[in-house]
Amino acid sequence: MPTRRSVLSGSFALAACAGAPSAPAATRPLKDLLPCPVGVCGMSGQFGDAGWRELVAREFDQFTPEWEMKMEAILRPDRSLDFSRADACADFAGRNGMRLHGHALVWYSQGAEPFAGLDKSTFARDYDRYVREVTARYRGRAVSWDVVNEPVAEDGDGLRTHHWSQSLGEIDHIRRAFDVAHEADPDAVLFLNDYNLENLPRKGAAFLRLVETLMKAGTPIHGIGTQSHLDVEIAEGQIAGFFREAAQFGLKIHVSELDASLKSDRRVDLRPDGQKRAQQAARVTELTESFMALPDDQRFAFTVWGARNSDSWLNRDARAGSGDQPLLFDASGAPTPMHGAVVAALD
Ligand code: XIL
Repeated sequence: MPTRRSVLSGSFALAACAGAPSAPAATRPLKDLLPCPVGVCGMSGQFGDAGWRELVAREFDQFTPEWEMKMEAILRPDRSLDFSRADACADFAGRNGMRLHGHALVWYSQGAEPFAGLDKSTFARDYDRYVREVTARYRGRAVSWDVVNEPVAEDGDGLRTHHWSQSLGEIDHIRRAFDVAHEADPDAVLFLNDYNLENLPRKGAAFLRLVETLMKAGTPIHGIGTQSHLDVEIAEGQIAGFFREAAQFGLKIHVSELDASLKSDRRVDLRPDGQKRAQQAARVTELTESFMALPDDQRFAFTVWGARNSDSWLNRDARAGSGDQPLLFDASGAPTPMHGAVVAALD
């Protein structure tokens, strides 16, 4: 945990003393500022919101369906597939000239019920079929997929245990999903995606060991997705350290779900607003600089998990209230101080 002194060192001390770092005047669209696609997530319910649509079309050139390409949205209880919602997302991306990133084929938290009680061969057959049919449907439209989402145990002690790993094997269910997806769309860039990789170094290291294991086994894995739901209280250097380690594999790297909450769920939070914003700016700066320090061909995309603060999943849960400011634009579509941190880091 950084001390107050370390967090407020250097130029951020100034920002913290003066209150929150100020929001920048409107700048050029993000998609013109970064040397790779800039992504945003969204749901079909937002497509009719003109403010959201205009902001998204102006600033971003890659789209991740926040929910509607997940198994939960596609797989019916009888394991037949319903593509209506996923298609709406693919159509939205196409209409707006945005690159489509598919999220997510296999996730520990989904699919347990439709797959419950199946004999082993039916389980394996329908697992393969799901991955194959979903990937094949969006061949030529989705340039990439999160093939397996969140495989690593939170404490970094190995992998999670769940219905997929129990039936098909801890590593084998992952290899199998990548193999089938690759066969269904040989051009798709296939990602292993997880969270807390920068926040929890032990988990980050376990994730990278898994990447190494998969690569050594000849798995067609092409990219590392780091969700980057940043804990703004982590020590300086932790984010840079993860990126340096991750870059060594030579795979593409996707900052796949960036947000940086100003709230702390670990303790009573009496920090002044200016201090929280300074911490947010410092960590987002470090993330952006770490991403920009990657070789050109390893920067896949820089994706934020929501366009405006009011769109964030962190503000959707009634218990959380709605006051968090974890994103690059405020409710009116104006750039936030966090936007300023990204833009300043690009210079
Ligand atoms: C979240 C969405 O934002 C929510 O709307 C949904 O209810 C649950 O999932 N990691 C992921 C994302 O890979 O799919 C999650 O998205 C956030 C954490």
